[in-house]
Amino acid sequence: MSVKIIRCHPSRFDALVAFVAEHNPQPEHHIGYFGLTPEDIRLSLRMFNWPFDRAARLAVAGNRIVGVLAADIDKELGRAWLYGPLLTLAERASEAAHSAAVPPATRHSPPATTWEATADALYSAVAARLPAGIREHEMFVDTANVNCRAFAERHGFPAVGEWAIYFITPDRLARLPEATADDWDERFAGQLEALHDRLFPRSNYTLTYMRQEWAEKGALLLVVTEGDRLTGYFFGRYEEDSGEGYVDLVGVDETRRRTGLGRRLMLAGLSRMRGAPGLRQVNLSVAASNAAALALYDDLGFVRERDMIAFRRAIQE
Ligand SMILES: CC(C)(COP(=O)(O)OP(=O)(O)OC[C@H]1O[C@@H](n2cnc3c(N)ncnc32)[C@H](O)[C@@H]1OP(=O)(O)O)[C@@H](O)C(=O)NCCC(=O)NCCS
Repeated sequence: MSVKIIRCHPSRFDALVAFVAEHNPQPEHHIGYFGLTPEDIRLSLRMFNWPFDRAARLAVAGNRIVGVLAADIDKELGRAWLYGPLLTLAERASEAAHSAAVPPATRHSPPATTWEATADALYSAVAARLPAGIREHEMFVDTANVNCRAFAERHGFPAVGEWAIYFITPDRLARLPEATADDWDERFAGQLEALHDRLFPRSNYTLTYMRQEWAEKGALLLVVTEGDRLTGYFFGRYEEDSGEGYVDLVGVDETRRRTGLGRRLMLAGLSRMRGAPGLRQVNLSVAASNAAALALYDDLGFVRERDMIAFRRAIQE
């Protein structure tokens, strides 16, 4: 079988979405950025910050898609996110020859039919088109995606963190007790900024962003206080289009831990979300090393869906 690397012509877009939807849910293929359902995948690809036909390359065998790699970019951050490589080829030439079931005498697979070689060919094709100024490449894959982990290692991507992905469904939410917390109050801006910086020093969420999402898009920014003192906060949101809610952050002052505030904040946020029309599930992700948070989410009945690993490679220009 010979495999060619080609651009993703718009006429192949639906076939690409179907290919990703078929394989991405499987842990051994899973790439975090794509999403799982055809709708999510279509949306994530349509939201790219640059023209998709420049950003993506397909591996095809005849007319059939057997692999994809795309890269979304943020020019300001100087970062590219690799959507892939997602390939349904065998890992090594020997396996490829074996799976092709050809007679042993003629069993010779050209290197380009293997996962490894095809992934590398896709990566060089995609990387060659990236605009100047991209200084980092990132990957986010299931820990069971051994091919991508080996790819990351081969290309010098250090691992930068492991994450557990959790979700909870409305039936489980309905069984949780009610709890309350206060809505955002500007009086606590200084304290929240200080607490947030201490607990999540590298977070993408700034106080300005959280306030804006709260004021303009109905995100949940909840606090618990003792008199004038802020002791904890919760930030989450509900996306009506997808029917999915997200717990983005929950944090409790270091001196007030293990007194039930984390649970209360989670229950208060979830109590607000569970009435949302069309809610399908509430998601969250958390560092796999965060024992306190893992225990809290397990205890609330969240289901641990996947374990993911993130890689980031610095690019010399
Ligand atoms: C995670 C966090 C919010 C928990 O807050 P908390 O107020 O200490 O938690 P609670 O007192 O409500 O504990 C609720 C349950 O969580 C679990 N838990 C909380 N802290 C724990 C710890 N250090 N070790 C083990 N389990 C823990 C327990 O099951 C606990 O129930 P229990 O006390 O009856 O055993 C808090 O540790 C925190 O702010 N961490 C830093 C920020 C962070 O990592 N947030 C989560 C990622 S967004």
